[in-house]
Amino acid sequence: MTQPDVRVAAVGCGYWGPNVIRNLDAVDGFDLRWVCDTDPERLLAVAARYPSARRTADLEDLFGDPSVDAIYLATPVSTHYDLARRALLEGKHVLIEKPLATTVDHAEELAELAATRHLTLMVGHTFVFSPPVRKVRELIDSGLIGPIYYVETTRVNLGLFQKDVSVLWDLGPHDLSILIYWLGEVPRQVTARGRSYLGEALEDVAFLTLEFPSGILAQVQLSWLAPSKLRRTSVVGRQKMIVYDDLEPVEKVKIFDRGVDRQPASFGEFQLTYRSGDILSPRLDTTEPLYLECQHFLDCIRSGRTPDASPRSGVDVVRVIQSAERSLRCDGAPQRIDE
Ligand SMILES: NC(=O)c1ccc[n+]([C@@H]2O[C@H](COP(=O)([O-])OP(=O)(O)OC[C@H]3O[C@@H](n4cnc5c(N)ncnc54)[C@H](O)[C@@H]3O)[C@@H](O)[C@H]2O)c1
Repeated sequence: MTQPDVRVAAVGCGYWGPNVIRNLDAVDGFDLRWVCDTDPERLLAVAARYPSARRTADLEDLFGDPSVDAIYLATPVSTHYDLARRALLEGKHVLIEKPLATTVDHAEELAELAATRHLTLMVGHTFVFSPPVRKVRELIDSGLIGPIYYVETTRVNLGLFQKDVSVLWDLGPHDLSILIYWLGEVPRQVTARGRSYLGEALEDVAFLTLEFPSGILAQVQLSWLAPSKLRRTSVVGRQKMIVYDDLEPVEKVKIFDRGVDRQPASFGEFQLTYRSGDILSPRLDTTEPLYLECQHFLDCIRSGRTPDASPRSGVDVVRVIQSAERSLRCDGAPQRIDE
């Protein structure tokens, strides 16, 4: 039996919104009812591509429309809490772009509101839906690379500078949601250093060191002030190593059969032997991650199941960033990330 369409409204026609709207429109089962942006020019430019959707500059039009089942919010970070709260109070399912909110209290309040009202609340942790990221988790879970020693990740570019949040809140959610998804644990301690070279107060560069309960270390570099765009992560395991480079056109994931073994030598000493074997690149699904994210939102609304980019993961990411910000303010003093 075919299920009725889920009627969805999209808010935000800035940099990211048009990608969201294109994918909502493409997913079979969503009926795009409204496109909304307070900026009339942006609204007109984007909404013109979707003539069957109504357009408005006033969010009240969607909140007050009982036929709207779900809302996708792609608005600036500083608006997330207020708009998501309002949408949930109006009984709408919500997909809110990352990060879920800018304080742990607000993020937890949104998670609780959705739970008590039995509404789907999902966070735009887009990379959790990306085929290469899923493949790396599969490889880690299979035990192929052995116990993980450490992870190193670089997400740098020239821009795009944000007006309302630092690089930590803008780019940080990507790597933190990926790390939590891969390792299945939330860091217990963070050390962060950063600088605001161009802005008044918002850091445009930040370096984080995270320690996970299992002992795994992760190093995360975030920057809007770099000579070239890099999106590269290395996962170093005892047996093998993985490099995930999101900018590679085809071979985004490579498995290096490389490592170092400690062999017993004479008189209780050890000798290091280096292994350098094949490099393999698994075949990957090429579906756009944002399409898979929108499809997952639809599935979760219909089935009532908890999304993979769950409110819990949204709260966890905000918790780590809030602690990292505390560390930044204390010249890199390590901060515990408490439950
Ligand atoms: N998941 C991803 O990979 C990804 C990538 C980029 C951005 N983002 C997220 O998307 C969100 C938007 O980022 P952006 O770069 O597109 O910002 P942007 O500033 O380019 O666009 C935001 C748009 O929202 C509109 N807006 C603001 N307040 C509004 C309101 N109350 N009602 C209706 N419209 C309103 C603005 O007019 C603007 O057009 C942010 O949360 C960002 O973190 C996610």
